[in-house]
Amino acid sequence: MSTSAGVDYSYLREIVFRLSQNVLDPSRDYLFETRLTNLVRNHGMTDLDEIVQHLKLKKDPFLERAIAEAMTINETSFFRDSHPFELLRLKLLPKLIESRRLERSLRFWSAACSSGQEAYSLAILIHEYFPLLAGWDIRIEGTDICSEVVERARAGCYHRVEINRGLPARFVVRYFDHAGDNWTVKPEIRRMCNFRQANLCSSSPFNRIDDRFDVIFLRNVMLYFSQETRKTLLASIHRVLAPDGILFLGASEQPADPSIWTSELAGGTCHFRPHQPE
Ligand SMILES: C[S@@+](CC[C@H](N)C(=O)[O-])C[C@H]1O[C@@H](n2cnc3c(N)ncnc32)[C@H](O)[C@@H]1O
Repeated sequence: MSTSAGVDYSYLREIVFRLSQNVLDPSRDYLFETRLTNLVRNHGMTDLDEIVQHLKLKKDPFLERAIAEAMTINETSFFRDSHPFELLRLKLLPKLIESRRLERSLRFWSAACSSGQEAYSLAILIHEYFPLLAGWDIRIEGTDICSEVVERARAGCYHRVEINRGLPARFVVRYFDHAGDNWTVKPEIRRMCNFRQANLCSSSPFNRIDDRFDVIFLRNVMLYFSQETRKTLLASIHRVLAPDGILFLGASEQPADPSIWTSELAGGTCHFRPHQPE
């Protein structure tokens, strides 16, 4: 894991920050070497320095965006950290269903959804444990800045190794079709989910007046953001979460501005609700 002498890594770090707000520590500059290898080759260049020199001479928004996307960390799995899903199943969703029984509608957002496992886990959970929601308007939105993972999420096709991480065998059999080593989410689950590319740090992907979510998963993405970016992002998440809605963050993440959130520890995990003034 080494870096190349003479490459202006700070220039590359600045591009990543400007386009995705991800803050990369200089100690991880070696990641540019491994992650941008294909990009260098596909652009007919010989090394990272050539990319940097090219960008310094000529604006190339497509190349800049490709760099920012290639540097995202897309680690995810089905039912990751299991606790939020168990808590939803046993306690939180039954309550939400009761309070939405007139509207018969529930909206979920997997913000920074990577290749879609989080959104599909929610869809499987709802399908499996809440058959009474079959006639409801259920929407699960997944968004991510990286177009490559969004394409993968839309395809809903996973390798055996990804399937083996976190999915109980009975769900695999029930909710996936397979051809060789590839397992594809069944249409009834895919239909519940909608994926699109969106940057959480530019204007919110959901800002229409009727954009309201009942449950938002914003997990394992804020750890790459500065404190300032976290604060701005959580304020916009607050605006689109229903007053009795639920926010899940990653296990090591906390709201940047605790004054607008109420936290609750239950089922081995912490979840957050918009703070209601007394
Ligand atoms: C580590 S994955 C987390 C995936 C999933 N939430 C989970 O916990 O398993 C982080 C994801 O955040 C996305 N991401 C990073 N910066 C982003 C931004 N500014 N806007 C939207 N997505 C972003 C990355 O592309 C990546 O897919």
